Amino acid sequence: MLITLKSKGEISLMREAGRILAIAHDEMRKAIQPGISTYDLDKLGEEVIRSYGGVPACLGYEGYPASVCVSVNNEVVHGIPNKKTILKDGDIVSLDTVVAYQGYHADSARTYGVGEISDEAKRLIDVTKESFFEGLRYCVAGNRIGDISRAVFRYVVSRGYGSVRELAGHGIGQEMHEEPEVPNFPRLFKGPKLKPGMVICIEPMNTAGNCAVEFLDDDWTVVTADGSLAAHYENTVLITEGKPVILSRAEGIKL
Ligand code: MF3
Ligand code: CO
Repeated sequence: MLITLKSKGEISLMREAGRILAIAHDEMRKAIQPGISTYDLDKLGEEVIRSYGGVPACLGYEGYPASVCVSVNNEVVHGIPNKKTILKDGDIVSLDTVVAYQGYHADSARTYGVGEISDEAKRLIDVTKESFFEGLRYCVAGNRIGDISRAVFRYVVSRGYGSVRELAGHGIGQEMHEEPEVPNFPRLFKGPKLKPGMVICIEPMNTAGNCAVEFLDDDWTVVTADGSLAAHYENTVLITEGKPVILSRAEGIKL
């Protein structure tokens, strides 16, 4: 498929999807505390998304059974929420979800600590968030996707963390996953040029140990092979003639 360039009208729908998404993330953030189940976080996220007229696009996507991907500690992404997984003091939890609004998508992920977390866990979360913003600096028309990939990778690896290679960011629009792929490591082929109207998701997934990952038997949950902690941070970004615009945000809510 070709890379689609979005019109003003399409962008305003994606902005609304992104606003709903940011509100849902913020509500889930506030609910995180020792004792809550990953199931409860998913239900809360779904409820908020629907209450604003959004559709939780993960639900049923290629058979995924929930609205929010909830990944705890060594789980990197696509953890399946359930009543048995109860968050406890010192855990870290990644929430990744997608909202569709009138046929257009926005996708973002956050990682939070539960109660008091170790300085090492905090640092992994911070560096992962910062690595997104490092990539964002290269979201300038005329640059290539590979410029973003390289920036994210260097930021992460130079700080001693692993950058997961099996999964990548992506274009987004009428589909949750569109061209181009946005890897978190550089390749010889730098990929397509960024153009105004392109919308991409940049989503570093980083590990405290080795970058190798495995799938659990549920066929969804991606975990670190060495059991180390993992963090994820993602936003939906519009390329413009000037500065990039983060579409997955809402006024008054911190990124
Ligand atoms: N944000 C996720 C991604 O880009 C989407 C979740 S996959 C799903 O991979 F199956 F849960 F929808
Ligand atoms: Co994504």
